[in-house]
Amino acid sequence: MAQSEHGNRMKKNRNKEGQAASQVVLRQVVCICKGIALGSVLKSCQGAETVGDVNQACGSGSGGCRGQRCGPKIRALLARKNGYDPGPASD
Ligand code: FES
Repeated sequence: MAQSEHGNRMKKNRNKEGQAASQVVLRQVVCICKGIALGSVLKSCQGAETVGDVNQACGSGSGGCRGQRCGPKIRALLARKNGYDPGPASD
């Protein structure tokens, strides 16, 4: 096997592994009460300004804890995405 062919195969395998790892991360549950995964929350963060916007879009924050557990996580995701603190996690 030529060296470049081997390198291409290794690169392709790393890409597949990276994609599989991304899928696992996106399936991690952010809102435990409602079983809402990170992928759904991130999609709902598109254009969202507040935690309330995200909650309204994907249904997070409406479970038994009323956003006590998922609110801070969503707030941190919004802060990272928008570059500023979106305010209280419980709005
Ligand atoms: S974890 Fe989201 S409402 Fe409880």
